[in-house]
Amino acid sequence: MKDFILAANWKMNKTSSEAVKFVRKLKNKIKKSKSNIMIFPSYLSIPALAKLKINNLSVGAQNMHYAEKGTFTGEVSLSMLNDLSVKSVLIGHSERRTIFGETDELINKKMTTALYNGLTTILCIGETYDEKVEKITSKVLKKQLQLALKGIERDKVNGKLIVAYEPVWAISSGDPNKPKLTPTAKEIEKTHKLIKAELSKIGFNDIMVLYGGSANENNCKEFMQIDGVDGFLIGGASLVYEKFTKMIDIANKYAIDTNN
Ligand code: PGA
Repeated sequence: MKDFILAANWKMNKTSSEAVKFVRKLKNKIKKSKSNIMIFPSYLSIPALAKLKINNLSVGAQNMHYAEKGTFTGEVSLSMLNDLSVKSVLIGHSERRTIFGETDELINKKMTTALYNGLTTILCIGETYDEKVEKITSKVLKKQLQLALKGIERDKVNGKLIVAYEPVWAISSGDPNKPKLTPTAKEIEKTHKLIKAELSKIGFNDIMVLYGGSANENNCKEFMQIDGVDGFLIGGASLVYEKFTKMIDIANKYAIDTNN
């Protein structure tokens, strides 16, 4: 059976108590889900969610620093995540890139630390609205992949790398001054193909590529059946019980069986 991932990026939402309440309610759905469920809550909620020890739930971090330890006020290291048994991390989310100024060079350092230490690492890439209009999507995505993975030896990565394609113009946070659009299934298919081809070209074969950007209970059935879509990175819809559980149900029916 082909793996399918539903990854919830909660961003700066839900307190620890709210997160625990939500996941407790979700427990049976997660256990019975045919998809792999990942939740990326705030750092502060990780211990409480990890303690729930739910089968088929991976509790990950939304970010991490590349250094082992040191004078980096406000940052969190790999060993701190290891200590809480965190096994997965998001790197290079567009909000980190645009709001917090993360460069490709910094993202490469984080990718190296995360992957070489065995974390399942979801590298987020995506073009902005202006880049889409300029028709340089392919160039932008290839560059993001090449720079994020620069110098990383494929053999040491051992199936830990996952890529999330999140066109910035489709993410709910997006740029408030630009139009918000949702890609068509054709656009997603074309871009996922391009990403997989570029990954192979730089030595990374069989990498799962998730789609993110306003993925929700209404569009997921169509999107999950697209060739090359191996799951979703979900923001807004993953915060709402009815929406997220609907996506889990739909994936049970359509993602796993039709994508085999
Ligand atoms: P969204 O967010 O689903 O709310 O658009 C996705 C993301 O930013 O990862």
